[in-house]
Amino acid sequence: MFKKLTLAAFVALGLTGGAHAAGGEAHVEDFAFSFEGPFGTWDQNQLQRGLKIYTEVCSACHGLRYVPLRDLEALGYSEEQVIAYSANFEVFEAELDDFRPAIPTDHFPSVTSAGAPDLSMMAKARAGFHGPYGLGINQMFKGMGGPEYIASLLTGYTGEEKEEAGSILYENHAFPGGWISMAPPLYGEDVDFDDGHSNDLHHEAQDLAAFLMWTAEPKLMARREAGFIGVFFLVVLTALLYLVNKRLWAPIKRKPTA
Ligand code: HEC
Repeated sequence: MFKKLTLAAFVALGLTGGAHAAGGEAHVEDFAFSFEGPFGTWDQNQLQRGLKIYTEVCSACHGLRYVPLRDLEALGYSEEQVIAYSANFEVFEAELDDFRPAIPTDHFPSVTSAGAPDLSMMAKARAGFHGPYGLGINQMFKGMGGPEYIASLLTGYTGEEKEEAGSILYENHAFPGGWISMAPPLYGEDVDFDDGHSNDLHHEAQDLAAFLMWTAEPKLMARREAGFIGVFFLVVLTALLYLVNKRLWAPIKRKPTA
């Protein structure tokens, strides 16, 4: 029943131009991320700041259960740092029938108590850009907009709230439908960064979104590199085939000399 409903909602969204259709003026800002474009790369400091916000704020309600803790070494942390960080979490060990501190080979815990979705793949599970008129052409120019959606969601609260069927809903410009059950998690100046980077709401939201893009697509750079190498080989191969073709046909195509 639920599946059918969401499918119908999906189709309706697609036909009428994305989040705009679901009521409210859904607004997704086009943040500029360092990893965008064919030559984009991760900003390691930004990912570290995002991890810090996730750890201190979001991890209370949201899990990252598809992300192995040892992957954090890719953000520039040493093995010792990752071991120390992992010990902040507890995992249930069936053999011990008890909880033990996590080690780098474990994943981030999955958190289900708050009824909040897992964030591992969130940056790929949402699209920020739709339209125009449901055609999705915007996605060709601006990208899918997953991280932009997340950053806009975190900055999109209006401050209005209402009670509906016993739960409190918060008005949010980016959330399809305009009302979300997550209270505003960030207000600005929620964490202090070691690198002295600004911690106003806009920057925090962007850093967090970049971090969630990394959790969803940690091999983005390697994938891009493989693509470039592939295209390079195809160009070389095309040139060689062209020359071979010319040479093979030369005796047949040669103009009669007489
Ligand atoms: C107090 C618990 C709580 C905290 C803390 C919290 N969230 Fe949430 N979050 C929720 C709940 C509950 C939902 C489901 C909301 C809904 O579907 O109405 C949610 C939903 C979301 C969604 C999905 C929205 C969608 O499109 O479905 C994202 C993204 C998100 N949270 C990001 C974050 C980030 C980033 C942080 C940390 C800065 C954070 N949350 C902190 C409870 C929380």
